[in-house]
Amino acid sequence: MESTRTSLRIHKRCAEAKDIVVLELRNHNQQALAPFTAGSHLEVYLKKGLIRHYSLLNSPTETDRYVIAIHLSGESKGGSSFIHENFAVGDQLEVSLPRNNFILGEHQEYIFIAGGIGITPILSMIDWCNIHQKKWKLFYTVRNKQRAGFYEYLSETYNENTHFHFNDEHQLQHLDLDAILENTSSTAHIYCCGPNSLMQNLKEKSAAMSDRVHFEWFSAAQVAVDSDVIGDQQPFTVKLKNMDQEIEVLADQTILEALENAGYELPFSCRAGICRTCETKVCAGTPDHLDMILSDEERAANQSMLICVSRSKSPVLELEI
Ligand code: FES
Repeated sequence: MESTRTSLRIHKRCAEAKDIVVLELRNHNQQALAPFTAGSHLEVYLKKGLIRHYSLLNSPTETDRYVIAIHLSGESKGGSSFIHENFAVGDQLEVSLPRNNFILGEHQEYIFIAGGIGITPILSMIDWCNIHQKKWKLFYTVRNKQRAGFYEYLSETYNENTHFHFNDEHQLQHLDLDAILENTSSTAHIYCCGPNSLMQNLKEKSAAMSDRVHFEWFSAAQVAVDSDVIGDQQPFTVKLKNMDQEIEVLADQTILEALENAGYELPFSCRAGICRTCETKVCAGTPDHLDMILSDEERAANQSMLICVSRSKSPVLELEI
C-alpha cells in the first residue's frame, strides 16, 4: 500500500507577522513532491501522536515545495508552540500527503473572506484565480496590522482586490458581513476560512445562499486543537466490541489516534469531523459529538460517532469495532 506519510526537510524558516512562522518544506533529494490543489492542507505529525493541520499557501503549480504558516496559539500546550520552539532549517518534518477539504470549484467570480491565519488556504486560491483569469475579491480581517500575515505581499501585489479590516482601527468592530453579502453578485461564490466565530456568523447570515458559500471547517477544529481544547478533556476507555479489547484514550488523543497507536488501521480521510469516513457505530456509553457534520437528530440518537474528533461523556464507550 502506498504510504500516506512522507518526511520532508525544512528548507527555509522565516517570521511572518507577530507569532506567525512560515516553513518551506522540500524533499531532501530535490525530488518532485505530490501535486496539490488550491485549498489543500498537510497533516503534520508531532510528538506522541499529536497531529496538526496546516494549509498549503503556495501556488498549486509548484511541485518542488510545500509552504505552511503556523500561528502560535496563546493557549498552545504542544502543537503550535512545539513547532515554533523546536523546528529549524535542516530538520525533518513528518507530514501527510496533501488533502483537500476546501475544494475550489469553477465559478465566474470569487469572494474570499479570511480571518487571521485563515488567510493561508486563500493565498493558494488567489493564485489559482490569477492563473485562470478569474475575478476575485478578498476581505481579510485581523485584530491588528502587526498580526496580519502576508500583509506586505497582499498590499503590494493585490491592493485593488484586497480589503483589509483591522479591528483595532474600527473601535474593535468586526468585519461587516452584511455589507459584503449585500454586494455579492448572484454568480459569485464565497470561500471563508478563519476563526469559528467568523465562520459561524457568516454561515448564519448567508443561510439563504448556502450553496454558494464554502467553509474550511477543519480550521474550526484547528482553532480548537491549537487552543488545546482536546488537551483539557478527560481520558476515557474505549471498549472494542468485536475484539474483546479495551483501549485508553488519553486527554490529548483522539479515539482514532489511540486505536492507531494500538495497531488498528481504520478508515479515515479528513481527520477533522467533516467527511464521515470514520463514522463508527456506538454500542454503549454516551459520545461527546465534536464533529461538524452529523445532524442534530443523529447527535441526539447517539447511534454513531466520528472517532477522528469526537470523545466520550461517559467513562467507558463501547464501539462496534
Ligand atoms: S475522518 Fe473525516 S469525519 Fe473522521
